[in-house]
Amino acid sequence: MALQANRPLPDSYRLGDLTVEKVLSSGGFSIVYLMRDDNWGPHVVKEFLPAGISQRTSGDQVEVLTGRSGLFARGLRSFMDEAAALAKVDHPNVVRVEDFFRANGTAYMVMRHVRGRSLQFQIHAQRARLDEAFLRTFFLRLLNGLREVHLRRLLHLDIKPANVLVGVDGQPLLLDFGAVRSALDQPEPQAKTVLTEGFAAPEQHAGDAALGPWTDIYAVGATIYSCMAGHPPPSARERVKQDRLAPASVRFASKFSPVLLSTVDWCLELDPLARPQSVYALQRALQDGTGVPARPLAHLQRRRWSLRDWFCQVRTLVSSGVHSVNARVARTPQPPPPPVSDHGTHAIKPTRRQ
Ligand SMILES: Nc1ncnc2c1ncn2[C@@H]1O[C@H](COP(=O)(O)OP(=O)(O)OP(=O)(O)O)[C@@H](O)[C@H]1O
Ligand SMILES: [Mg+2]
Repeated sequence: MALQANRPLPDSYRLGDLTVEKVLSSGGFSIVYLMRDDNWGPHVVKEFLPAGISQRTSGDQVEVLTGRSGLFARGLRSFMDEAAALAKVDHPNVVRVEDFFRANGTAYMVMRHVRGRSLQFQIHAQRARLDEAFLRTFFLRLLNGLREVHLRRLLHLDIKPANVLVGVDGQPLLLDFGAVRSALDQPEPQAKTVLTEGFAAPEQHAGDAALGPWTDIYAVGATIYSCMAGHPPPSARERVKQDRLAPASVRFASKFSPVLLSTVDWCLELDPLARPQSVYALQRALQDGTGVPARPLAHLQRRRWSLRDWFCQVRTLVSSGVHSVNARVARTPQPPPPPVSDHGTHAIKPTRRQ
């Protein structure tokens, strides 16, 4: 039976100091609104409203479906816990959670509004602009934000172009922590989540494998791959059965530097241990190729290769060999990437409503 669509709060509805302007998106887990704060202007507000567990039939109250109160309570607690954890992350490349509270029988997360378009939109509308210089600068900045999230012992677990905003100033903003987990503390997934095919790492599909920074790193690799290809790589669920992924270092050899391409392939390794183990390691690789391994032979054996594939692969192997001897040799002249931020945590500013 199809799940009953959840009814959003109506336009002009008042939620404390906030007024609903419009619905931005309505997913299976939440409804996201653009709301205007009386004093602070536009904000994005996420309402916890999991379909199949709860519904809004009339008025503004959320009702829990019969027999689902345990699930709803657990989800609500998790929503509030993660909002509390995210509220402590204060970084220009991570959406700012300014407040969270309970109302209408559910919970709300209030985030700072940033003007821009999603990276998904850029891939569809302006992929030609996503060249090497853009990708390096953009993802190094995004990774600064992700590193801050990991320092808080949180994992995002749903990184994909639709959850990355390109601000009008070109700055990346990591959005949608709906699947966020304190997985660094609790290796067990707390609840079943819907995975995004193509971006979710194999260990997320497996369900019982340890999740860690390497899990978000797989999704970052898939996101960069999508910028290059215009579509995501094949689902990891399929890849573990038969890997049909055309390595970036083969497929895009004529468009991007071998170091960038090998870094993407490194992130997309099926074996979690074969990927960069930390965001910092990935940033070093993106910055100057440090640590990027030469492609293992297993990759060459997985699929049938055309003469052109072989040529590209040999060229990549030679260049990554050169690279590992002298990590500072960049084969394509690049503008200087943005600095990798230091390891220290940032001071936590008081939130708007405290
Ligand atoms: N802080 C923000 N500033 C501007 N736009 C935002 C912001 N947060 C979200 N959006 C817009 O709202 C859309 C939906 O947000 P988000 O990805 O958080 O929710 P969702 O995917 O619907 O949620 P979920 O998967 O958790 O149910 C985004 O793609 C983006 O366009
Ligand atoms: Mg989203």
